Amino acid sequence: MIRRPRRNRQSETIRRLAQETTLSTDDLIFPLFVTEGTNKAVEVSSMPGIYRYSPDLLLKEIESCLKLGIKTFDIFPQLEESKKDKHATESFNSDGLYLRTIREIKEKLPEATIMTDVAMDPYSSDGHDGIVKDGKILNDETLVVLGKMALAQARAGADIIGPSDMMDGRVGYIRETLDDEGFTDVAIMSYSAKYASAFYGPFRDALDSAPKFGDKKSYQMNPANRREALIEAELDYAEGADFLMVKPAFSYLDIIQTLNENFPIPIAAYNVSGEYAMIKAAAQNGWLDGERAMLEMLLSIKRAGAKIILTYFAKEFALLQK
Ligand code: PBG
Repeated sequence: MIRRPRRNRQSETIRRLAQETTLSTDDLIFPLFVTEGTNKAVEVSSMPGIYRYSPDLLLKEIESCLKLGIKTFDIFPQLEESKKDKHATESFNSDGLYLRTIREIKEKLPEATIMTDVAMDPYSSDGHDGIVKDGKILNDETLVVLGKMALAQARAGADIIGPSDMMDGRVGYIRETLDDEGFTDVAIMSYSAKYASAFYGPFRDALDSAPKFGDKKSYQMNPANRREALIEAELDYAEGADFLMVKPAFSYLDIIQTLNENFPIPIAAYNVSGEYAMIKAAAQNGWLDGERAMLEMLLSIKRAGAKIILTYFAKEFALLQK
């Protein structure tokens, strides 16, 4: 035997030399939940270790993450039912919880890079990502709302806008809206291949944002489809997206690989709430080693071709590097 692959696995040092993929805190974006109030941190029951923070404690959390080397944060709001309506008007209320919080973070912690989420669902009384009429989601009417929302977020100081709604044409519409108002430097990380997934369950618990009727299958993609992701990515690329995202991540490694091979901009993957919850639940039961499972999951997402990973594990990972 001339070729003995085990030679490259014989010691920790040689294994590290031969290691093809590495993970760094620089690759991670930490999603965080903000809720109304002060001095409040409520753990999301289906996401152990993840909290909904009032703005004051959110700032503290971001500050502590910055010290660990996490620099980018994706913020999501939890709104009271009374703030929700059919047109998500609260999403562009500059005195509302979300925009107020973004402004405050950018004022007090300017070294934090802030990604904001563009989609109607946390603000929608229907719990959908678009305007609902007679049980249908209206695409082009929704774009107007998304444009206003993105612009309000840019004005509040957002560095990266993340359209997560899956309406057709939204990246181009948002890009034009931002450029017309002089926000040419605000980037767009588009949820390009976002699938209608069961793995968003815990997130919808966190934000009380589950659809009030029906499902999201008329706008989110069919989990059975890979080639269709190329159409979504091509459109977003042509419409000016700076980053293309695949979501969820772990069941969609082939999609990550396909986009990485076909588009010359950074690919991001969203390691979603259900993927986090699965590992946490199994670890709590002693059924698997949570830390090793986390590292393996994140590494496999990177290996598939994601340069960036949005993950609830970000802080845990960063702590392990210290
Ligand atoms: C909605 C949105 C969702 C997530 C991010 N943005 C849920 C959904 O589409 O219903 C899910 C994130 C997660 O599960 O961690 N615009």
